[in-house]
Amino acid sequence: MMKGIFITFEGIDGCGKSTQCEMLKDYLKANNKDFIFVREPGGTVIGERIREILLDKKNTQMTPRTELLLFEAARAQITEEVIKPALEQGKIVLCDRFFDSSSAYQGMARGMGMDFVAGLNMAATGGLKPDITFFFDITAEEALERRGKRGEASDRIELAGLKFQEDVRQGYIELAKNSEGRVVTIDASKGIEEIFEVVKGTLKGKI
Ligand code: TYD
Repeated sequence: MMKGIFITFEGIDGCGKSTQCEMLKDYLKANNKDFIFVREPGGTVIGERIREILLDKKNTQMTPRTELLLFEAARAQITEEVIKPALEQGKIVLCDRFFDSSSAYQGMARGMGMDFVAGLNMAATGGLKPDITFFFDITAEEALERRGKRGEASDRIELAGLKFQEDVRQGYIELAKNSEGRVVTIDASKGIEEIFEVVKGTLKGKI
């Protein structure tokens, strides 16, 4: 039996989810909540090494299948090594990206198929699912504009372009529709504070 609560953050690149993660971390700290924060891919020694391979711009030969399996491998490691033990100890687990990223990026945008990826997601996590997933929804154009303003260097996945990001977004919209309430869609074109109020409101009484 898992006693903790598992919360994940999702959206296309530049959707603002990392800012919201930071705000929620500060909020939980201020309220003396017992939590951990991790990110995918990564969060373990093995996972961070897989992350380097995945995001390296030099790895132009990587096939979609290899990419998907590497994400799943990193996920299997962090689930077993970090997430499950923390949940068993009753902690709140915040995760910046989890298996919905694979469904949206590899399943939808890379064309591997959402159902196919769903099967691998279950294999990697041993059936563990987030309790609540925030999907920060923004158009690819708007996200690009934001990233441009921040002047961040693109990684291998971000290099895939605007059409790719819009496909990822459609993947998330589809996931949210079929999630039976697990995925909470938030209009990420709104202001940072306004978005955080929705996050807090959703978690009220649950954390
Ligand atoms: P990262 O720098 O963590 O991006 P962000 O700050 O947007 O989360 O890079 C992760 C990249 O990997 C991002 O472009 C999304 C992508 N990704 C997938 O394609 N599939 C996955 O399963 C995961 C977890 C991430």
